[in-house]
Amino acid sequence: MPDARPRRTFAVISHPDAGKSTLTEALALHARAINEAGAVHGKGARRATVSDWMAMEKARGISITSAALQFVYRDHVVNLVDTPGHSDFSEDTYRVLSAVDSAVMLVDAGKGLEPQTLKLFRVCALRGIPVITVINKWDRPGLSALGLMDLIQEKIGLRPTPLTWPVGEAGDFRGVLDRRTGDFVKYTRTAGGATRAPEVRLAPGEVDEADAQVWSDAVEEHELLGLDEADHDQDGFLAGRTTPVMFASALQNFGVAQLLDLLLDLAPAPGATEGVDGTVRRVEDDFSAFVFKVQSGMNSAHRDRLAYARVVSGTFERGMVVTHAATGRPFATKFAQAVFGRETTSVETAEPGDIIGLVNANALRVGDTIYTGDPVEYPPVPTFAPEHFVTASAGDIGRYKQFRRGIEQLDQEGVVQVLRSDLRGDQNPVLAAVGPMQFEVVEDRMTHEFNAPIRFSRLDFQLARRTDAAGAEALAGMRGVEVLQRSDGTHLALFVDQWRAKVTARDNPDILLEALPAGGG
Ligand code: G4P
Repeated sequence: MPDARPRRTFAVISHPDAGKSTLTEALALHARAINEAGAVHGKGARRATVSDWMAMEKARGISITSAALQFVYRDHVVNLVDTPGHSDFSEDTYRVLSAVDSAVMLVDAGKGLEPQTLKLFRVCALRGIPVITVINKWDRPGLSALGLMDLIQEKIGLRPTPLTWPVGEAGDFRGVLDRRTGDFVKYTRTAGGATRAPEVRLAPGEVDEADAQVWSDAVEEHELLGLDEADHDQDGFLAGRTTPVMFASALQNFGVAQLLDLLLDLAPAPGATEGVDGTVRRVEDDFSAFVFKVQSGMNSAHRDRLAYARVVSGTFERGMVVTHAATGRPFATKFAQAVFGRETTSVETAEPGDIIGLVNANALRVGDTIYTGDPVEYPPVPTFAPEHFVTASAGDIGRYKQFRRGIEQLDQEGVVQVLRSDLRGDQNPVLAAVGPMQFEVVEDRMTHEFNAPIRFSRLDFQLARRTDAAGAEALAGMRGVEVLQRSDGTHLALFVDQWRAKVTARDNPDILLEALPAGGG
């Protein structure tokens, strides 16, 4: 039976340490509490689902079974798509963002807008993903709420429209003023491990004497915000011009239910999607999905390849035979899984917005479309401007064949971008990455999975611009630049620094030198 409940598919993004794991755990806990009709769980149960996932992620230093946590809330199915939790930045994060309809940006109240937060905001803007901002750790001393609003406006250019406003400054969290109803949502501390969000809703007249002063401060700021066009604007939010803001303490489980309510009330449901040829697939049309992540080596016993796909339209049924748009070949979905941490469960059906893990998906690549019925092909998942470059060579010449195979596989999975040129030959491909940790992943997987030790040597390039064949010819031999070709055919001109790129562009206006979508920068 297809599950017709409405969907919300989102990701939580943040700078490391802002509290993403804590919030995920709180959401999982909340979902669990609801699914099991309010059963109270001890700390053990609370740890069981999520922490396994985190532990593995930490042990391997990289996202492993990134997938989705699915739960039911207020008769909606919520898909929380995991983003890699490591401190470095990699293209994985960006790809995950192609699979969600909205993002929750977690900001540490004590730190403000950190570099990774800014980068991720930019990616959301680029992809037109509506962002809800959660100011976390309000239970600890931090910046002022109004100051944080200014930072968001100045640094990101999104107009913050707080839906809740803190009562009590950071470190003295009494609760929030719900700006839509004017109520005081009071935060009550409960002894360890409560499953329910410790919230009590009070009308303004019911506020205690003890909270009177901070409450009236909050009311005053709320009125100020009203004058400053900081009230919620649904069209602005969906168009990526404004960001609803709320204040929370993930650790204390305060704000988690409010966040879920916001997601259901405001965040977009899966919608119609345009294919490369401009035809539009509505959610109720025949089944289609696109692959946003491919992973292998999860089970060292069999060289399994798992392709994560987001359902775009129609109902997925396990066992259905779909068409792989890139090759036109049939693909049998005999095995499909929902993967969350170590737990994999077999998926029988899935709806638009859901994430499925397709097993034995050797033919599927990142960005590929699968469908039934009328043909459709979705635009490729974007690649981002690499900022780190190395040359790679086989650490053991006797294992060159394994080396080649490994590089090819990692290239297909999108672990790094692989660049080549006639000049450098095939033996020493250039690997390009958005974040340097991508190289560590390559090293680890080459050594352990492909049994092909690899050696890197750093290259002095700092940025890449897209050019074409004519540009490649014209740039050959110029100082401070080298042109290589990525395996998708794109010509990339690598420059030693910004300055060199600018001067080259200025002196050669006829050469195509186009900035790529910036992941970093
Ligand atoms: P991340 O996944 O974004 O990297 O962050 P994570 O959840 O691991 O949180 C980083 C640290 O911040 C953790 O402390 C966590 O307990 C703390 N934290 C998260 N949310 C809140 C909050 O709302 N209030 C406060 N006061 N702290 C918060 P840690 O000491 O590094 O780890 P742990 O020993 O507490 O697990």
